Parts: sequence; C-alpha cells; structure tokens
Amino acid sequence: MAEDRLLADPPGEERTITVLRERAFAAMERAYAPYSSFRVGAALLGSDGSVTEGCNVENAAYPVGICAERTALASAVARGIRSFEAIVVATEAQEPTPPCGMCRQMLEEFAPHLLVVSVTREGRSSRWTMDDLLPKAFTPHSLERR
Ligand code: THU
Repeated sequence: MAEDRLLADPPGEERTITVLRERAFAAMERAYAPYSSFRVGAALLGSDGSVTEGCNVENAAYPVGICAERTALASAVARGIRSFEAIVVATEAQEPTPPCGMCRQMLEEFAPHLLVVSVTREGRSSRWTMDDLLPKAFTPHSLERR
C-alpha cells in the first residue's frame, strides 16, 4: 500500500480531502472484486499525517472477502499507526455509500472521532462522524469489569 505524509492542513480541510479522494480512487483501481464488480478504495489519514490506502479483496469463498476500509485499517496498524483523523471511501456508485457495519465497528476501535467521507466519480460526497454511523458503540471500555 502506498503511503506518505499528507499536508499539515486539518483533516476536514478541502485540500486534505481532495488528496485523500485521489488516493482512494487510485486504490479503487486495484480492487479485486470479480464477484460483486463493486470496486471500493479507501484512503486513511493517520494522526501522524500518513496516508494508508486499501481496496476490497474478494474471494471465491464469498464471506472471506474484506472491505476496503478494513484493508486500509489493518495495513496502517501493521505499520504501527493506531490513531486516525479521516477516511475517504471511493466507489463507482451513483450515490456516496457509507461503510458497512463490520467496518464501522473496526474503525471505532482506533478512531471513535473519525471523519468519514464517501465520494463518487461524479463529485458527490457525504460526510459523517463515527457518532453518526455507530451510536452507542461497543468499545474497549465495554470490556472493563468492576
Ligand atoms: N465493500 C467495501 O469494500 N466497502 C464498503 O464500504 C461496502 C462494501 C465491498 C465488499 C464487497 O467486496 C463489495 O464491496 C460488495 O459488497
């Protein structure tokens, strides 16, 4: 996965999102989605300014496939990055698509305040916070025992 340091602009800044958008679409080109033909790319902005890309990787045993968001997250964690500011998700759908439930749960673990932006080729976009997407989440605190 390609990565480098992104500009020092705040995560929601238009310039930052534009760079992440390009990176997400580049990752989408590498998606392996022969079964659904629904290609997804993701660009995850680390709190250290790093950008880690991900794409969906499907499998002949369908449930084994993994989403672009989780690919990006696992890849970043494997590189030692555990804190994130924003993720941009790119698809070829007509409308911006939000992350699936499994991805929301996995993102929540490392980035409860993540900005989630979904973009289309035609330039549409939607923005959410993790609070919008996963209210009342099960978090590491939920495991604490008294
Ligand atoms: N997919 C993602 O990669 N991210 C999402 O946010 C939604 C769905 C993938 C999973 C599967 O490979 C294909 O899109 C169709 O569901």
